[in-house]
Order: sequence, then C-alpha cells, then structure tokens
Amino acid sequence: MTRRRDLKITTIGAGYVGLVTGVCFSDFGYDVTCVDKNARKIEQLNAGEMPIFEDGLEALVKRNLREGRLYFTTDLAAAMPDTDVVFIGVGTPQAEDGSADLQYVMAAARELAPLLDGFTVIAIKSTVPVGTGDKVEALIREIAPEADFAVVSNPEFLREGAAISDFKDPDRVIIGTNNDKARDVMARLYRPFSALGPPIVFTDRRTSELLKYAANAFLATKISFINEIADLCEAVGANVTDLAFGMGLDDRIGSKYLAPGPGYGGSCFPKDTLALLDIAEKAGAQARIVEQVVNVNDTRKRSMASKVIDLCGGSVSGMTVAMLGLAFKPDTDDVRETPAFPIIENLQRAGATVRAFDPAAMAESKPHLTDVTYCSDAYDCAAGADVIVLATEWSHFAALDFHRLGEQMAAKRFADLRNVYRPEDVRRYGFEYVSIGRP
Ligand code: NAD
Ligand code: UDX
Repeated sequence: MTRRRDLKITTIGAGYVGLVTGVCFSDFGYDVTCVDKNARKIEQLNAGEMPIFEDGLEALVKRNLREGRLYFTTDLAAAMPDTDVVFIGVGTPQAEDGSADLQYVMAAARELAPLLDGFTVIAIKSTVPVGTGDKVEALIREIAPEADFAVVSNPEFLREGAAISDFKDPDRVIIGTNNDKARDVMARLYRPFSALGPPIVFTDRRTSELLKYAANAFLATKISFINEIADLCEAVGANVTDLAFGMGLDDRIGSKYLAPGPGYGGSCFPKDTLALLDIAEKAGAQARIVEQVVNVNDTRKRSMASKVIDLCGGSVSGMTVAMLGLAFKPDTDDVRETPAFPIIENLQRAGATVRAFDPAAMAESKPHLTDVTYCSDAYDCAAGADVIVLATEWSHFAALDFHRLGEQMAAKRFADLRNVYRPEDVRRYGFEYVSIGRP
C-alpha cells in the first residue's frame, strides 16, 4: 500500500468503531493514530494483540504497524499536531432513562479543543442524538474561540463480525455538514475506497445524525416483524423460512434481516431504538412503530425459554440444558444484550442446570452468569443433557454429528432457535426438535 501523506487522521476511542476506522484508513495509506484512555488496550495493540475478536483485524493492525503508518497511544496531545481529521468514536451507552449518554463524546470534545492546530475536521462517528454536533461545536468554540474547525457527522454502519469488510466496502458513506471546506476534506478522505466507490451522501448534520438511528430502527423493525410472523406461522401451520424467502425476492422488501430468531441483541439495536424513542419524545413527535418493535423484542427474549420448556414436556426442573452459543450473533465475543442470557436465566429459574459452549464468548459471559458449567465444545456440552438449545448460529454448530450428540445425552431434544437445521434432518436421529416458525 502506498503511503498517503496528504491527510493525517486521529481517532479518539479504539473500540470496535474507532479501531476499525483507524486501521482501515491506515490500510488505505493514511497516517493514523488511534488514541484510547484504556492503557491496557493501547499496550495490547502496540504489541499486535487484539482487544476485540474481529476477523481479519489482527493482520491489518500488524501490517500497518510494521509499515509505519499506524500508531496507538493514550496521549491525545502527542497525536493531534497536523491532524486533518479527528474521528470521535467513543461509546454512547444507554443512560438510565433510555437516552444516549453523551458524557464520553463531550469529554473527547473538551480534550481535543485546546489541541486544535490549523483547519481540522472533527468527524463524529459515534451514534449520537440529533443536535449533538451543535453541542460539540459550541463546546469547542467556547474552549478555543480562535480555532479553525468544522464538526461533521459521519455515522458508522459496520457490523461486528464483518467490521473490516463492512468498513472497506460500505453500501454508502453518509457525511453531514454544511461547511464546504469540511466537505472537501471528507470527500478526499473517502476517495480511495474502491474503484467504483460507494455512494457518498452529503447532507446536513442533523439529518445525518438521525439517519443512523432511523437505519438501525428500520433493521430492528424487519427483525421484530419477521419474528411475529414466525409466531403466526407456528399458530397456523405455515413455514417462515419459505415465507421469508418468498417475501425477500421482492426487491421492494429485500431478503436481508428477515431471519427469525430469539430476538435481536448487541451493542447497537437495543440501545439505538431506545435512544430514538427518547429523541422523538423530547421533540414531541410520535415513534409508535419503534415503540412496538422494542416491546416485541423484549417480550421475545424473555419468552424464548418457554419454547424449550414446552419441548421438555412442560417442565425443565431437574433437567440439564446444553446451551450452544452465548454471543449475540456469530463471529464476535460480544455478549451485550445477547438473547442467550435471559434464556439461561429463565431456564435456571425453572429449575434447570445449564452447561454452555461458545467458540469465542465464554470469557465475556462469565461475569454475567452464575452457576453455568463452561464446556470445551458442542459434544462436551451435550454430555448428560436433556435438551440442546442452539442460541447462536456459529458455523461450528452448522454440521453437528447428531448420532454422536444423541449417544451422550440423557434425552434427545433439540431447540434450534436460529433455524440452522431442517427439521427432518434432526428428527431422523430420533430427536424431538423445535425451531422458529416451522411446522
Ligand atoms: P467501545 O466501547 O468498543 O469503544 C469505545 C472506546 O472509547 C473505549 O475503548 C474507551 O476506552 C474509549 N474512550 C472513551 N472515552 C475516551 C476518551 N475521552 N479518549 C480516548 N478514548 C476514550 O464502543 P464501540 O462499540 O466502538 O462504539 C462506539 C460508538 O460507535 C457508539 O456510539 C456506538 O453506538 C457506535 N457504533 C458501534 C458499532 C458497533 O458495531 N460496535 C457500529 C456502529 C456504530
Ligand atoms: C448492527 C447494525 O447492523 C450495524 O449497521 C450497526 O452499525 C451496528 O448494529 P451488529 O449489532 O453488529 O450491527 O449486528 P447485526 O448483524 O446487525 O445483528 C444484530 C442483531 O440482530 C443480532 O442479535 C442478530 O442475531 C439479529 N438478527 C439479525 C436477527 O435476529 N435476524 C436477522 O435477520 C438479522
């Protein structure tokens, strides 16, 4: 990769978004410094160790460190000189009232303000409520009245587990600014993305801020919709897999985000849908659809255990459950808002003993769960179990040996909460089998 000296980048925050942003831009040839307050994280990254589980990240970090255009530090003052674009990629967690907690974003703005030197674009990548750009701008202006800067909204749409490819090959890039100089800098920055280039949508800052919430809420809506339709399929004897396939072939609907399951989790959909409700309420606007999406999902996550209990004949008291998958989705060790946790807790409450295996998320799960036995693989997990619950569709669970599983279980039952298998392929081995929305 050639060295691209024309723009220098700093990211504040080296989490999923800040780190992936920094690493990918450095891989395009820019000089990038990722700054994080977490000294342990920076130490790890400088040693080429990854603080997060993300396919392909390690190779990119090592290459760009080696080639001398990627730096990690805790020292923002050392990173800022000559920076053209500083990305704010810190967390915006859910506050108690459901709103987005902006303390980390405002702290980052406060820290960078006195360090501004020459025209600098401050690009907010964190997901932030409408008007945050205005607040950040006002704060910086107050601290550094003479500084030459523009605050831009540049929301991020990457998914965990596919972060590098999502970042490098996005469906679109959204840039919210009314400042022409900032617009030119951002257009230059995103130029090397691909031969054809993703569409770059320029809009105003508020629209860009709201667009991110609207996109996540819409995807969450598709999921809650298909989950309710899956329940309807069960009630009327229809098959949601065929139904979703048939629906998705309509270009106006699209096939993505129509996979039914135990409810959406993760670090974004749950908090961002709640934050959208808070934004609407504060603006005096209605967001009734999103309100119901949140309700449907919460109820679903809590009620999934009853599907397992029904499969076990109405009670799991004294039984052993083998839980396959703890992460909120495959290819990540992230367990934030994972549906696996309420399922486990409700089964334990109903008297079950829980064994669990996840290829990546067991260490992350331990602080959140009690009385769970962690296993070395799916077969170890199934030993002595009365029922297997497949909660996360890791590829590790896509070709299980049902003969081997059945041999070590106390009873052959399989609750496939991600519709990984065809019912007849599991029942053939003598298993009682349930899935989502299929006869
Ligand atoms: P994260 O918690 O993984 O990382 C945030 C990092 O910022 C942490 O390492 C923290 O130590 C650091 N930090 C906080 N304050 C700092 C400061 N003042 N200076 C330096 N470092 C600081 O968070 P994330 O998952 O990367 O999310 C960041 C933002 O991006 C959120 O607003 C989130 O909603 C949004 N987002 C996340 C994803 C995702 O898949 N995780 C996708 C799109 C958007
Ligand atoms: C999401 C957004 O997709 C991404 O654009 C945003 O930047 C961050 O939030 P992420 O949380 O990493 O990404 O995962 P995603 O793949 O979108 O899945 C979210 C949840 O929805 C998972 O729990 C997943 O299992 C669930 N899901 C997804 C379904 O239940 N069905 C589907 O069809 C798709």
